[in-house]
Amino acid sequence: MKAQVKIWMDGKLVPWDEARIHILTHGLHYGMAIFEGIRAFATPAGTAIFRLDEHIERFLNSAKIYRMDLGYSAKELKKACVDLVRSNPAKECYIRPIAYTAYGEMGLNPLKSKISVGIASWEWGAYLGAESAKKGVRATVSSWVRIDSRAMPVQAKCSANYANSALAKMQALASGYDEAILLNTQGVVAEGPGENIFRVKDGILSTPPASSGILRGITRDTVIQFARDLNIKFFRNDSTKEELYTSDEVFFSGTAAGIAKVREIDGRRIGYDGTPITDRLAKLYDRAVHGGAKRYSKWLTPVSR
Ligand SMILES: Cc1ncc(COP(=O)(O)O)c(C=O)c1O
Repeated sequence: MKAQVKIWMDGKLVPWDEARIHILTHGLHYGMAIFEGIRAFATPAGTAIFRLDEHIERFLNSAKIYRMDLGYSAKELKKACVDLVRSNPAKECYIRPIAYTAYGEMGLNPLKSKISVGIASWEWGAYLGAESAKKGVRATVSSWVRIDSRAMPVQAKCSANYANSALAKMQALASGYDEAILLNTQGVVAEGPGENIFRVKDGILSTPPASSGILRGITRDTVIQFARDLNIKFFRNDSTKEELYTSDEVFFSGTAAGIAKVREIDGRRIGYDGTPITDRLAKLYDRAVHGGAKRYSKWLTPVSR
C-alpha cells in the first residue's frame, strides 16, 4: 500500500503514520467494527465520489444494527470523506470509513465501549488482479457456506462477517482460482466474499434476491438501474451452482471489484460466445463513474480542490 498524507480520525485529519490504535482496542478482539468501501474517480470536473449518499446510509444502518452511536450525522460523515479525499494527492482512490468499539473496556459487552470513527483512503487498482480484469476471473464454488442472517446480520458490513469471506477467499486462492462463490445455507448461490454476483442466460440478466442472505450491494443496485435503462430483461431469482455453470455470462459486482466478468467456474468455461451484456453494463459503469454519462451524474459528489 502506498501511504497517503492524511487520515480522518475521530473528527480530525491526522498525518498517515499517526493514525494508530491501542493493542487492547475492543473491536480488534471481538469483531465489533462496521465499515464501508467507497470509491472516488477522476472525472472531467475533477475527482468525484461515487454514490456517497448510499454508502453513508449503509454505514449508518450497519451502526444501527450493532447499536453503535457514531456521534456523527450523515452530513458530517459525507463532509469528512470529501475533506479526506481533498487532503490526499490521489485523483482516484478507495475510501474506507470504519467505526469500532475503542480502547478502554474488555469483555463481551460492547455497550461499555466508546465508539471511534476513522476514514482512510488509498489508491487501489483492479481488486481481483490485472489479469482477471483483462481476461476474466477464474472462480470456484466454495465449500464454506455464506453466513446466515439468523446467526449474523448480513446487511451490516461488520468486520466479523469477513472471517467467513476470508476463509472462502483463501480456499479459492489455495486451489488456484482468483475468487470464491459462496452458496447459502439452502444450497443456492449467494455472492462472492466481497462482491455480488449476476448471471445471464438466454439474454436474461438475474441476481440473487436480498432474501438469499447477501449484502445488498450498491454496485448491484447500479447494475439493476442500468439494466432497466438499457431495456435488458432482469429478474431477482435464486440459482443453483449448476445454473451458474451453464450460464452464458457471469460477473461479479462490487465497489472494489467493479464489474468483473467471470471466465471460468470450477473448470467450466463461461462466456464462450462472448459476453455482450456484461460488456455493455461494464462500459456504462465505467462511463458513469468517470462522469461520462449525464444521466448518472447525480451519483457523483465532487471533491473541489
Ligand atoms: C459481502 C459483500 N457482498 C457484496 C459487496 C458489494 O457491495 P458494493 O457494491 O456496495 O460494494 C460487498 C462489498 O462491500 C461485500 O463485502
